[in-house]
Amino acid sequence: MDKQPEQVSEMFDDVAPNYDRTNAIMSVGNSALWRIATVRAVEPKAGERILDVAAGTGTSSAAIARSGASIVAVDLSPGMIAEGRKRYPRIEFVEANAEKLPFGDDEFDAVTISFGLRNVEHPLVALAEMYRVLKPGGRLVVCEFSKPPRALFRTGYQAYTKFAMPIIAKVTSSNSEAYDYLAESIRNWPDQSTLSQWIRGVGFTRVVYRNLTAGVVALHRGHKPEDAAIRASVAKRRATRARKPAAAPGGSAAEPTD
Ligand SMILES: C[S@@+](CC[C@H](N)C(=O)[O-])C[C@H]1O[C@@H](n2cnc3c(N)ncnc32)[C@H](O)[C@@H]1O
Repeated sequence: MDKQPEQVSEMFDDVAPNYDRTNAIMSVGNSALWRIATVRAVEPKAGERILDVAAGTGTSSAAIARSGASIVAVDLSPGMIAEGRKRYPRIEFVEANAEKLPFGDDEFDAVTISFGLRNVEHPLVALAEMYRVLKPGGRLVVCEFSKPPRALFRTGYQAYTKFAMPIIAKVTSSNSEAYDYLAESIRNWPDQSTLSQWIRGVGFTRVVYRNLTAGVVALHRGHKPEDAAIRASVAKRRATRARKPAAAPGGSAAEPTD
């Protein structure tokens, strides 16, 4: 499956009712630990405004909202949002594409995306949007599947995604084909260093990552520069790139423009 927003949205509409349960089973309980690590990396504080992109049913947003920060949960799939609104009536959900966020420049103290960037058709466009809506000095946290660096572990993990995941999906999910897509999208997603380069490429500074569960998941962090001169040079670089025909706006996992 390609990552046309309509198709992606329909697929998540289908899995919405059982999404969190299937997730917990497939990750062998690790999804809860990944969420704790993500919230710690976001470092939410009471009074801050935080954006959770591709928030799904709001599980990632709810964990952040507990800090007292005000959270906005954006997602493409009406089905996932409907499920989220049922579970977390106090969270503000907004239906929108990560590639065209319906917010002004410099609005949020932190922006986070968990297990969503891999599903976006043009991840670099989405990253650039996250940069735009962040306040200067604001934090970005990306939690996403990645590539375990140790060969032996990687082989076992690949066997798990290929053979065990489809069986678990058949038993627990309302749309097991969606989980074939999941395995494929994980296989095709770039490694930790490449994602770091993409994040730097759209203008973030102080980009670092840390592996969770031996690299099954990686947590990337970055900052929108506080210094106006650095932001101006990012904007200039982008404008130059946009003028070049070879660097048309877009950018996909296979052919990044940054
Ligand atoms: C695997 S779920 C992750 C949900 C949640 N962040 C979590 O950690 O449980 C991926 C979500 O990304 C959303 N999504 C995919 N493409 C998107 C896009 N272009 N813009 C906004 N959301 C998108 C899907 O609708 C889905 O809810």
